[in-house]
Amino acid sequence: MQLPKNSTKFKRDKSVIEYGDSFGFYKAWDKPTVIISDGPYGLGSFPGETRNPDELANWYAPHLSEWFKHSLPSTTLWFWNSELGWASTHLEIVKAGWEFRNCHIWNKGIAHIAGNANSKTLRKFPVTTEVCAQYVKRVEIPFNGNLVPLREWLRLEWERTGLPFSRTNEACGVKNAATRKYFTKDHMWYFPPSDAMIQLAEYANKHGKRSGRPYFSLNGTKPVTAEEWELMRAKFYCDIGITNVWDEPAVRGIERLKTSSEVSHMNQKPLRLMELIIEASSDAQDVVWEPFGGLCTASIAAHKLKRASFAGEINRKFFEIATERLSSYDLF
Ligand SMILES: C[S@@+](CC[C@H](N)C(=O)[O-])C[C@H]1O[C@@H](n2cnc3c(N)ncnc32)[C@H](O)[C@@H]1O
Repeated sequence: MQLPKNSTKFKRDKSVIEYGDSFGFYKAWDKPTVIISDGPYGLGSFPGETRNPDELANWYAPHLSEWFKHSLPSTTLWFWNSELGWASTHLEIVKAGWEFRNCHIWNKGIAHIAGNANSKTLRKFPVTTEVCAQYVKRVEIPFNGNLVPLREWLRLEWERTGLPFSRTNEACGVKNAATRKYFTKDHMWYFPPSDAMIQLAEYANKHGKRSGRPYFSLNGTKPVTAEEWELMRAKFYCDIGITNVWDEPAVRGIERLKTSSEVSHMNQKPLRLMELIIEASSDAQDVVWEPFGGLCTASIAAHKLKRASFAGEINRKFFEIATERLSSYDLF
């Protein structure tokens, strides 16, 4: 498919790729369940990119705030980078409202450095890895005119009922698991599953002070439903046997896009890894954002998995190759 000349937007089904700085696109894109950031690594390779990983935090700061502003309580952010790039940016990511979940190591294997690993000259062990850190949105709920963390909101709502915390166990039909898991102040806190949340809300609204009802309401008019509560945390689905170390060779063979005999993009990510993280953190029809598209591997994976997607790419050549890839990807 030939992209019309000067075209700045390409759409196929529910996948959109736009040409330009993504920062300007976020407010118009549908809200994401998954954000896959594979942007600058501090190598000075793209327009406006810093040459120094130490400056990455400042570079990413405006994007991180926008992602927080336009995302959902169920959104997961996957942040790809070099180890040093991620280390330099981590505190800025947390400052923008994202909670750290896990760090995944992409191990490309020894073949990645074959013939290019003179450790005597390098004075270090050869590097065969990148990282993909997983963050979830810090969820806050309005309470008395302020936003409070979800975990604190649970305690504040129960306190409003006038009932002692020990009655949360009766509400859930357990000996002490509700106070120990869902209402604890220590670090061993658990998000109440929706069946427990519904039991707590029903009990509070039946036995709590009449004047304070409704309790555990997200809209101020009726208690939270199971469906609403499920969406108050990031989605996560995990197959047995997958760990935080992902052994996967760098992209090669038929998957590697080439322009003449040159690779089209130095940083093309494996489709399999993009599929892994999208499947782990979303359902069909959810929305995936790929703010730093390159060849838009995450958008291709999203399309394959029946998710909607929005990508931006600032380099015209990469934008055109990515749109061509998306329009024809079923063919390989
Ligand atoms: C590491 S590459 C992404 C590679 C991609 N994951 C793939 O598999 O092909 C980062 C891309 O982000 C683009 N980029 C950098 N800053 C951008 C911005 N502000 N808006 C849109 N794209 C940007 C660069 O031109 C580059 O192609």
